[in-house]
Amino acid sequence: MTQILSSIAIKKKITKELKLECRFLLENGIEPYLKVILVGSNPASLVYTASKKKFCEKIGAKCDIIALNEQIDQNTFLDIIAKINLDTNVHGCIIQLPLPKHLSHLDIGKLVNEDKDVDGFHPNNLYALFSNHEMEKHFTSCTPKGIVTLLVENNIEIANKRVAIIGRSMIVGKPLACLLTNLNATVTLCHSKTLNLREITKEVDIIISAVGIAHLIDETFISHKKNQIVVDVGMNTDTQGQLCGDVNFERVKDHVLAITPVPGGVGPMTIISLAQNLLQASKKKVSL
Ligand code: GUN
Repeated sequence: MTQILSSIAIKKKITKELKLECRFLLENGIEPYLKVILVGSNPASLVYTASKKKFCEKIGAKCDIIALNEQIDQNTFLDIIAKINLDTNVHGCIIQLPLPKHLSHLDIGKLVNEDKDVDGFHPNNLYALFSNHEMEKHFTSCTPKGIVTLLVENNIEIANKRVAIIGRSMIVGKPLACLLTNLNATVTLCHSKTLNLREITKEVDIIISAVGIAHLIDETFISHKKNQIVVDVGMNTDTQGQLCGDVNFERVKDHVLAITPVPGGVGPMTIISLAQNLLQASKKKVSL
């Protein structure tokens, strides 16, 4: 039987832990506080930011969504972030991506202060990941961290595994390649221009798709020895407007050892990681 790597039970377990940690912080006079900056009304971003706020509140943390007009001018946008950086009551801040075209040239990773960068996009946080040095003092990008948690919680070994990642984004593919390499996996980072992608995916132990193309991965990418693990990071909409992953679940599931579903797989793990990072940022303020 193929193992379905659902995140529902893991989310329940970690939520309990996060609630306890949050209560401890509240008892010590710290109310973990996240600011989410949302520019415009990208439908997916509206859903994700609402889920982030709901989860923060569920564990007892505070979260504001700063919803800004699509046409906001650059200086006003930068001023809002600068004020958040100075606000000592705020522990974490994320700028929901994608940004509208007129802001997308900004060096987004440098806008939020390193110590509030719970997305893990700041150059100093990325350098800690890159150098595998003092990772515990820095923030790790949420989706890569969530994928590792999902694998670890399911007792899936990472060390010595061959992994193919499809997608080279700054949010998932590149930091994930680094994180898994630090954990002693052997990683091949593939992307939309990779030649003979199937030759690579058929040879590895773990396939992770984060390319954002609905149902790209079908059984022709799989080895058919039923010994592979497939992790689907995709959050796409199919031709009927339904949420779907990068993996054609129905065509792949019988050929693999384990597979993540969409929804209920990687998506909730990203939010868990964000909450973990927020509490990590808040804990720095406790002097015990
Ligand atoms: N858009 C899609 N995923 C993410 C994420 O992890 N962080 C931010 N800030 N924006 C996103």
